[in-house]
This record gives sequence, C-alpha cells and structure tokens, in this order.
Amino acid sequence: MAVEVGTGSKLLAGRTALVAGGGSGIGRAVVERFAREGAAVEFLSVDAAGVRATGEALAAQGCSGRGEVVDASDAGSVERYYAGLRTRHDRLDALVNCVGIQRYGTVETTSVETWDEVLAVNLRSMFLMAKHAVPLMRVAGGGAIVHVSSCQALASQANVVAYTASKGAVVALTRAMAVDHAAEQIRVNVVLPGSIDTPMLRASAREIDAEDPGAVVATWGRGHPIGRVGTPEEVAATCLFLASPLSSFVTGAELRVDGGLLASVALAAPREGRVAAEAASREREV
Ligand SMILES: NC(=O)c1ccc[n+]([C@@H]2O[C@H](COP(=O)([O-])OP(=O)(O)OC[C@H]3O[C@@H](n4cnc5c(N)ncnc54)[C@H](O)[C@@H]3O)[C@@H](O)[C@H]2O)c1
Repeated sequence: MAVEVGTGSKLLAGRTALVAGGGSGIGRAVVERFAREGAAVEFLSVDAAGVRATGEALAAQGCSGRGEVVDASDAGSVERYYAGLRTRHDRLDALVNCVGIQRYGTVETTSVETWDEVLAVNLRSMFLMAKHAVPLMRVAGGGAIVHVSSCQALASQANVVAYTASKGAVVALTRAMAVDHAAEQIRVNVVLPGSIDTPMLRASAREIDAEDPGAVVATWGRGHPIGRVGTPEEVAATCLFLASPLSSFVTGAELRVDGGLLASVALAAPREGRVAAEAASREREV
C-alpha cells in the first residue's frame, strides 16, 4: 500500500507514540521531536528527575506529553504500565526504545551481577516494551517499533563486553521481530548511533578525564570521519523517519547514525597530493 505524505504536514499527526528511556539524552530528543510532529506522546524512564525535566522541556515548547517513572527492565512494572496506557489509548502507532546503560569491563572483570544488569536494561527492556506494544499496534492496523542499539553492535571498543553483547542482541532481536510482524504491517527497525553528546557520553568521558570531559568528547568527535560527535536531535530525526509513513517499506533495517564511523578504517593511506607528487617524480625519472 502506497502512503502519501503531504509536504508541510506534521509527520505524526493523529498518532500515538511511546518513548521508553525518554527522561534524558536521545530519548528526550525523540519525545520533543515526536510531540512537535503532532503525536500524542507518552514516555517513561526510571529516573523521576528525568521524567520531570522532559515534561518541562515539552511545556517550554508549547507541547504536551505524559511521562511516568517505570523500570523498563522489570516485567511486572512494564505490564502495569501498559495496563494504564490502555486506559488512555486504545491503539499505539509507534514505540521508540532508547533505554540503556553503559558499564565497563572485560569478560574477566565484569561481575555476573553487572552482566545481568546490563542485559536486563539494554535487552530485556526491548523485549518487554515490544511484547505489550505489538497487540496495541495490531489493533491500529500496523505500527512502527524503533530500537536504539549502538555502533558497538557491529564493532567494539575495548573493555565493554556486556554493553556490546547487549547491543548486538538488540540488532538480532530487531531482525526476528521484523520477520514475525511484517505481514501485520508492524515495522521493526534499529538505529545504531556513534558517539552522541548525551549525559551517558559525558559520564564515559568523565571516567577518562574527570577534569576535562569536553576534551575527551572532542577527541572522540575527531575519530568520526564527519569530525564531531552527533547530537541527540540527529538521532531523533532518524527515529522520526523510521516511525513515520516516510519509511513505509522499511523493516528489519539497521540504520547507522554515526558520522561515517563504521564506514572508516583507522589506518593511514597515501594522501592524494603525495600520490600525485610521487607520480610526477616517477615521470621525471623516466
Ligand atoms: N550517547 C551515545 O553516544 C550512544 C551511542 C550509541 C548508543 N547509545 C544508546 O542510546 C540510548 C540512549 O542513550 P543516551 O546516550 O541518551 O543515554 P542517557 O543516559 O542520557 O539516557 C538513557 C535513558 O534511559 C533511562 N533508563 C535507564 N535504565 C532504565 C530502566 N531500567 N528503565 C527505564 N528507563 C531507564 C535513563 O533514565 C535515561 O532516561 C541507549 O540505549 C544507549 O546505549 C548512546
């Protein structure tokens, strides 16, 4: 079925969207963008201050949305949350799951408790949030689920085994869900951000240099071919594309939002000027 999207129209007008992890960083940017695009936005996060701050950010833009404090990794809490959601909405058109935590360690230094914590927050939350979203999307005649994974699903830093394993699993989960629900017009896609300037990134930078985290972030930025780290709004724009009718034939896709990070190989090659100079020198010798 072809979908017409009028120019200038709000992309999510008349739709209901739920953002998990909407209390900070990328999730907050998604909440704000979706609200500006006309969606009735619901969001949840585990931290009360974050939920409050996102609500205030919405109000400052003249938008509205409803936030709630929920641990998305806990099956009972998610079930209770959806029971409440169903009293407010009889359908759900979009779910974006931005929940995530970062913990450092190798397979030797990561404790079993940390492994379980990271897998529960980064992976089980995706499963739980989607499990209850699918029936509500079926009622709506279709919907879009967007998972936020990471570049680290495909290439890993050192010392991040639990995080990397969880992010890789989210990509596999996305593929499996996309196949299962495509015929019901429920599209499932995953976004793979590079370094994005959020509280999570700043916390990691502080672990490297507590005095000057900004310098660490700038160094990471230079590691991305585009020359900087990304913004939460840039990831939110990609989530909007995947949640909107603009991507009506896209499902099971892995979309990198990484300033070229995964396209690059960190090995020096001869520069164009040097190649030309060497060719000229060879011609002179002939
Ligand atoms: N910032 C980056 O550079 C980057 C890069 C790649 C991927 N990501 C991913 O993007 C997503 C968002 O990250 P961010 O950088 O915006 O981080 P962030 O810390 O700013 O936001 C994460 C949000 O998840 C919420 N959260 C954590 N545990 C939760 C739980 N159990 N239940 C409900 N909410 C919970 C937090 O309260 C917060 O609102 C994460 O999945 C992260 O792994 C971030």
